Amino acid sequence: MLKAVVCVSGGGTNLQAILDAMDAGRITNARIMAVISNNAGAGALKRAEKKKIPALVLSPKSYPDRESFESAFTAKMCELAPDLIVLAGFLVKIPDGMVKKFDGKIINIHPSLIPAFCGVGYYGLKVHEEALRRGVKVTGATVHFVNEGMDEGPIIAQKAVAVEEGDTPEILQRRVMEQAEWILLPQAIDDIANGRLTVKDGHVCRSGKVQI
Ligand code: GRF
Repeated sequence: MLKAVVCVSGGGTNLQAILDAMDAGRITNARIMAVISNNAGAGALKRAEKKKIPALVLSPKSYPDRESFESAFTAKMCELAPDLIVLAGFLVKIPDGMVKKFDGKIINIHPSLIPAFCGVGYYGLKVHEEALRRGVKVTGATVHFVNEGMDEGPIIAQKAVAVEEGDTPEILQRRVMEQAEWILLPQAIDDIANGRLTVKDGHVCRSGKVQI
């Protein structure tokens, strides 16, 4: 049984998609052992509470400097020792030390077709504002393994979503969530939990019948 820690910062709709997929049997052989947020007010924490999943807040603001936050965050993660860390709308960069200790065991969902609209400064609504400003006709979401870079790790899967006439950033964000994020992330977790998806030397390896 794969033990996952899910890291969140916001409303938690991606966390909810994972919980719903577990309840529906679309994710098997996995459980969420804890939810961690950098934001005490994150709606995602209420979603965890409803499912009686242990949740904790680790905010950089509670530490005198970045280094002490990163060592506390990394120490806590090592104590939990998950098989998989899932970044589900998590707005804190993962410390390099944690990336090294959990090499190949951290995945992230990003609301664009990487390498478009990603990297420093591209998060949440900002991604969709830029996509609309640039006038792209197709956008989407990407689920990828996490390395020391920002949104640069090996891509697991992507799903395209049409940009429609009159889209606002909020409308587009919702469509990307519904049609891409909430599908890709649970599928990737199920494939990893059932040994169909790994990463080695920066290359995603698939075996058996993968969903994505
Ligand atoms: C989502 O668009 C996600 O892709 C991005 O953060 C947004 C909020 O996600 N990383 P959630 O509703 O908190 O899961």
